[in-house]
Amino acid sequence: MNRAAIILAAGAGTRMKSATAKVLHKVAGLPMLGHVIAGLKAAGVSRIVVVTAPDADAVRDYAHAQGCQSAVQDKQLGTGHAAAAAGESLKDFDGELMIAYGDMPLMTASTFEASFAARGEGLAIVAFRATDPGAYGRVLLDAFGALDRIVEFKDASEAERRTDLCNAGVLTADARKFFAWAAKLDNKNAQGEFYLTDVPALAKRDGARCAVATVTQTEALGVNSRAELAEAERLMQNRLRAKAMAAGVGMIAPETVFLSYDTVLDADVMIEPFVVFGPKVQVASGAQIKSHSHLEGAQVASGAIVGPFARLRPGAVIGESAHIGNFVEVKNSVIDKGVKANHLTYLGDAHVGAGANIGAGTITCNYDGYTKSHTEIGAGAFIGSDTSLVAPVTVGAGAITAAGSVITKNVEADALALARGQQVEKPGWAKAFRNYKQKEKR
Ligand code: UD1
Ligand code: MG
Repeated sequence: MNRAAIILAAGAGTRMKSATAKVLHKVAGLPMLGHVIAGLKAAGVSRIVVVTAPDADAVRDYAHAQGCQSAVQDKQLGTGHAAAAAGESLKDFDGELMIAYGDMPLMTASTFEASFAARGEGLAIVAFRATDPGAYGRVLLDAFGALDRIVEFKDASEAERRTDLCNAGVLTADARKFFAWAAKLDNKNAQGEFYLTDVPALAKRDGARCAVATVTQTEALGVNSRAELAEAERLMQNRLRAKAMAAGVGMIAPETVFLSYDTVLDADVMIEPFVVFGPKVQVASGAQIKSHSHLEGAQVASGAIVGPFARLRPGAVIGESAHIGNFVEVKNSVIDKGVKANHLTYLGDAHVGAGANIGAGTITCNYDGYTKSHTEIGAGAFIGSDTSLVAPVTVGAGAITAAGSVITKNVEADALALARGQQVEKPGWAKAFRNYKQKEKR
């Protein structure tokens, strides 16, 4: 059957106290909305409508960039009202429909799948048992253990609040039936809102069977505040670390390693403590990432060693068995096989040929305040310590630059380039100087 989904993302998110829309706050580097979209797509949902507030251009642009449609909820009159706002966008749609919230980043594709499966001919919601049910909507079961209704926390009696079965915020039904029920919602409740959570009771009145699919509390976490966002990050990091280790990645202290939603680590990659992965990093088998390194937009080939204290920025491509050592920063540069840049170096907008040795304190001067320029270092070149390479500049293969040189002109292959002040020596000068100063003191 065709599958469509509506993601509700028009809420004000006031509890976040942020200028950024709640659903665009990131978990493991991806907006919460992105996690929900990815999960739905993986569960075979081919059409997604994201419901936004009228002024939420950023949310709308994000949704469109992910291949979703969008619909505007003029006023934030509640989750049921928000879902109904997507009706126009789906008026030609025939099939099953899932309503999900944009603020539940830990929900997985298999839960979405399970919810579709649980629906049968009727409706399904997703619930979880909470250790601390807080302000979640409570799921009330009838005498037969089937769904009776959902009651929002603010409307619930003391007795109803005592149940630990909570509404996760996923509802699945036939699309046409759903919009018919949503049209019947009222707002006679504590918050004066049209609650999506009143739909199951309406469906039951119509004779529809209402199933409850259950998930873990972790998956169901709904993020409404900064503290809950941090909790979502913690849980997501645990999930990503566990997945990486199950795939053969070694971590000494996994709780100190931070991954991005899209980090690709092959089996037998070794990660030391306190490493942070920003988006778009790939590390091949056998590479080691040592402590306190920060990587984003980088590729690391097998056998390479990065860190400790290294920084790989977007466009860093580290070749096989290359060494990028302490306090070395690499940006938009291709570092070929076997290169060694072990200490205190900046390589930006450069290509370093295979086997070159980059001495401590080497700097590519790639920026003049207006444009970025390229530095080319040939294979097997030896860049002496404290060399400044003023780009654009080329150092030929096998060439040597003397320590302390400021290289402003291209260096031929196999040449020595010396570009520093000449040393002058004055025998005995230091001693004479000391004697003179001593006398002065007396
Ligand atoms: C909601 C559920 C609650 C459930 C909890 C799970 C309702 C009435 N309550 O409560 O049963 O336990 O989620 O996390 O559904 N939104 C709109 N337009 C609106 C209001 C909300 O688009 O007018 C969107 C929000 O952006 C958000 C989602 O709907 O993504 C849920 O709204 P939120 O205010 O977070 O509801 P909760 O109080 O968390
Ligand atoms: Mg919420």
